[in-house]
Amino acid sequence: MAAFTPPPGTADIFENEARSWRFLESTASKVFSSYGYGELRTPIFEYTEVFQRGLGGETEVVQKEMYTFNDRGGRSLTLRPEGTAGVMRALSNTDVANGTEQRVFYYGPMFRGERPSAGRRRQFHQIGVENVGRCAPLIDAECIAMLHNYLCAIGIKDAVFTINTRGVAEDRIPAEKMLREYFAGHLDKMCPDCRTRFERNIWRILDCKQSECGRIIAEAPDYVECFTDASKAYFAEVKAALDLLKVPYQVNSRLVRGLDYYVHTVFEVTHSGLGEQIAIAGGGRYELFLPGEKRPLPGVGFATGCERLLLVREALQLPPPESPQTAVYLIGLGAAARLANMGLAAQLRNHGVRVEMELEERSFKAQMRSANRSQAKFAVLRGENELASHIATVKNMADGSQVEVNENELFDYIVKSI
Ligand code: HAM
Repeated sequence: MAAFTPPPGTADIFENEARSWRFLESTASKVFSSYGYGELRTPIFEYTEVFQRGLGGETEVVQKEMYTFNDRGGRSLTLRPEGTAGVMRALSNTDVANGTEQRVFYYGPMFRGERPSAGRRRQFHQIGVENVGRCAPLIDAECIAMLHNYLCAIGIKDAVFTINTRGVAEDRIPAEKMLREYFAGHLDKMCPDCRTRFERNIWRILDCKQSECGRIIAEAPDYVECFTDASKAYFAEVKAALDLLKVPYQVNSRLVRGLDYYVHTVFEVTHSGLGEQIAIAGGGRYELFLPGEKRPLPGVGFATGCERLLLVREALQLPPPESPQTAVYLIGLGAAARLANMGLAAQLRNHGVRVEMELEERSFKAQMRSANRSQAKFAVLRGENELASHIATVKNMADGSQVEVNENELFDYIVKSI
């Protein structure tokens, strides 16, 4: 049979790995709900303008990476490349527009047409949160601290948090002027993309990963200097709260993040297990325009990449979550015994016991092999003779000892023994 592999940048996730995914998700749900967050599930595809408007038309994601197609009516749809824009679209139907705070978390697949590599997929999975409706430094700090708590809860205690401020619209005018004067003198040595960014959105230059551009960017003047006192004070309050909460961080004014909606606080998280080029999480404060609204809606949030979290856990050699153990394997010789076993299995499973059993006509030896492979604690053996005498043999798989148990007491006996 021809072997079909999944498309590049996608993967099948089997039980061994899925267990780790469930661990990431259930821990997220526990940690986030302790901060008052509740789950929100949005569609995997949205109208394309939700992302175009939300993320910014000049961003790498919107320009080059979206999976966009037309529905039957000719309307443009896009597989979500991230969670924030869809969450904001969903919340626009609630009373959040009146200034009521909403705290939501989400997890699920996202899609970006990037070149696949270690930790970079075309279908990847994010766990994210959004705190929407209010704007205050302590909200930003709490959000970053919650991410720190979450990473610690999944065993990643030494992640590196880099933070910066992007100011607000009025800070950008003098800051852009400063950057424009500087980069104008270096454009001839910069990549073609940066030359376009210089014309269209100069901030995107700070995000360039080309090495020659990187050297020039490193020497750029510190534009945060010309932000207003109010914006500087906002950032100072965020930092003071992080200090109080003992969240370690470093400040880097080159950090602008890849999406256009950010204002004030932005942050990115890396880990030595993956290298500093690959972020395991990123986020910040943003302002997004909801359909039909004249004023933008404020929010702060982050998303972590599950694939990358698992790679870090592997690099740290953290043990995978334990696999559930089969408690009982039911061996049946003959149709009547198998049927009786099915009844017993249903009863035990309703009670939450993990049961495996033989459903086909196979030899005793073959069934015993399956029972051994299942690593069950006990095997229950029944054939025509046992059925006729209303008993079953229960075998302890660890020491090989056997007892005969009356069929009326079988359920209680097993539940008590496992
Ligand atoms: P982002 O930085 O584009 O932010 O993505 C967040 C995280 O998703 C990254 O740090 C990374 O771990 C993971 N990620 C992104 N692209 C890939 C990929 N191709 N393969 C594997 N993992 C990937 C956002 O998406 C924002 N929506 C975060 C946010 C929420 N900001 C405010 N609220």
